[in-house]
Amino acid sequence: MDRKFYITTPIYYPSDNLHIGHAYCSTAADSMARFKKLTGYDTYFLTGTDEHGAKIERKAKAQGVTPQAYVDKIVAGIKALWKQMDIEYDDFIRTTDQRHVECVQKVFKKLYDQGDIYKSEYEGWYCTPCESFWTELQLKDGKCPDCGRPVERAKEESYFFKMSKYQDWMIDYIQEHPDFIQPQSRANEMINNFLKPGLEDLCVSRTSIKWGIPVDFDPKHTVYVWVDALTNYISALGYGTDHDELYRKYWPADVHLVGKEIVRFHSIIWPIMLHAIGEPIPKQIFGHGWLVIDGKKMGKSVGNVVDPVVLCDRYSSDAVRYFLMREMPFGSDGEFTLRSMLTRINADLANDLGNLVSRTVAMIEKYFGGEIPAPQTELQDVDINLQTLAQATPAVVETDVNAFQFSTALTEIWKLIGECNRYIDLTQPWVLAKNEENKPRLGTVLYTLAECVRRVAIMISFVMPRTPERIYAQLGVQDQNLKTWDSLFGDSFAVLPVGCKVQKGEALFPRLDIEKELARGDGIPEDQKAEKKEEPKPAEQPKNEKSAPKGHKEPEYPEQISIDDFFKVKLQVARVLACEKVEKSKKLLKLQLSLGPDGTRQVVSGIAAWYTPEEMVGKQVVLVSNLKPAKLAGIESQGMILCAATEGDGKLKLMTVEEGMDDGAVIG
Ligand code: MSP
Repeated sequence: MDRKFYITTPIYYPSDNLHIGHAYCSTAADSMARFKKLTGYDTYFLTGTDEHGAKIERKAKAQGVTPQAYVDKIVAGIKALWKQMDIEYDDFIRTTDQRHVECVQKVFKKLYDQGDIYKSEYEGWYCTPCESFWTELQLKDGKCPDCGRPVERAKEESYFFKMSKYQDWMIDYIQEHPDFIQPQSRANEMINNFLKPGLEDLCVSRTSIKWGIPVDFDPKHTVYVWVDALTNYISALGYGTDHDELYRKYWPADVHLVGKEIVRFHSIIWPIMLHAIGEPIPKQIFGHGWLVIDGKKMGKSVGNVVDPVVLCDRYSSDAVRYFLMREMPFGSDGEFTLRSMLTRINADLANDLGNLVSRTVAMIEKYFGGEIPAPQTELQDVDINLQTLAQATPAVVETDVNAFQFSTALTEIWKLIGECNRYIDLTQPWVLAKNEENKPRLGTVLYTLAECVRRVAIMISFVMPRTPERIYAQLGVQDQNLKTWDSLFGDSFAVLPVGCKVQKGEALFPRLDIEKELARGDGIPEDQKAEKKEEPKPAEQPKNEKSAPKGHKEPEYPEQISIDDFFKVKLQVARVLACEKVEKSKKLLKLQLSLGPDGTRQVVSGIAAWYTPEEMVGKQVVLVSNLKPAKLAGIESQGMILCAATEGDGKLKLMTVEEGMDDGAVIG
């Protein structure tokens, strides 16, 4: 099996500071590279900057500096951002690097010498911000079809690349290699929108743009920015030089990870260029979706950018990386809101993961003097179920990550974390600890938990590179062999050595006061901060205590709703893990609910007149799980539990499901 893996991000324009949308792309590439390393691949990860073109030239001029000085400053900021976000690339290529310039000139000359590039005159519509020429037909309402800005008529002596000659080859290749463009829908788009209508020869030089790579045999021309930029993927490997060891080792790339709007350049122009010079083409182009705000692509021109530096400073880069990889199914667009990020941090990181680690370590300290106990008793079903899940999860994660399904992979890991927390609730170690006779059983329970925590730490490391070391420090794991992916695949569940000295540390992710954080609005655009001013309406505001059903709003029902309206409401089975009265309120109970693989939720409910906290614990309830969080009596409520209630006599009963349903199961 080929155990080499070469992955790239696009090279970024250093025309402005990067935003969280750019960080999304790099985080995905870095997570994939880390995962491949972890699973034994010889991995090479390339990123860099795309520094030429009219836009940079103009911006530099406006600031009264040379284009080189302008980009140098921004590139330094980009490198600092990647360092802060633990983007661990093997090489950073700049298109102003001499090694790159020479490579581009060589490729251009080769294409010219073999007759694939010829001189002619170009007339067309040019979008300067996108550095793209468009034909009349491609314009949308007379404007650039990509960014919607005005285009200008441009005519000049230019070199052309005979793309049309390779059109049929390209169509056949895409059709015969269904994995080449992913997701598959983007392949259809390329064929139907760009290839089938007919490829025109591509204008590949400009005389009006000075800030670019000169065509060495005709220096009044500079090379078209996309031809310049795409070549980075091989110039960085030393292609065409005497030192092309990296090229020979890693090319063709396993995957170019790119945003969906630039799949076109990567899956048509780039493979045709490579094919024309007789080189193999990349194995895959993966086009991911965008981070959007209110449905609009995040970007400087829209003015809705979120600053990753500020978010990482305040919430840690591991938390930001986790959110980016967990929240959006890779390939689709995903809406960014600060609230959804903070909610995830609290639910998944502070509650699910953080509590699991701290409870496990605290109990080992309390009941076994801080030494990981031996699993001494025969396993019960509850142990076997958890251990089996822990042993099965890595293979599932591997399949998901290899298909770029980061979100699904993390969901699987969190399913295990959720089961660990449920295991604590089911085995009740604090009850076992009351009786010395149960000490061996308690040892088995706590060993099982500690070993699961070790496994979780390994599995999250590709997305969250810092957190595992903090977990290992708490578990007392030092041996590097206990941190490897391979250590998850032995026949035996019990890998962690008995006697490891645990040490309680700081909370991995302190719980955030979401409303307070939203009010600060660090890193988000001004108009997004309006969210903080809008005090959320309580979802479950108890009304007059005497009226029934108590604790519930009287809704006004429309005569009929569509099935689509109904499906907007997400109902899930949730188990009550803990429940307490809300101080100074006769009506409210505060409940901690488990949604199984979907983590935990805190809900405040006006049912105190009907149910005591003790009777609630362990019950399965029906939760409206996609309700916007609201505050009740100053406490955040993340959803609403459903009850049946009758008017007049004030009866109220919880809704539940029949025995045997999984926590988190979706109702509908
Ligand atoms: N310089 C070109 C790429 C040349 S590659 C040979 C370029 N640069 S860019 O800086 O504009 O974008 C770099 C990457 O960031 C692209 O893949 C783009 O899709 C991605 N993103 C920019 N905004 C984004 C979001 N709002 N969301 C997700 N990705 C985003 O294009």
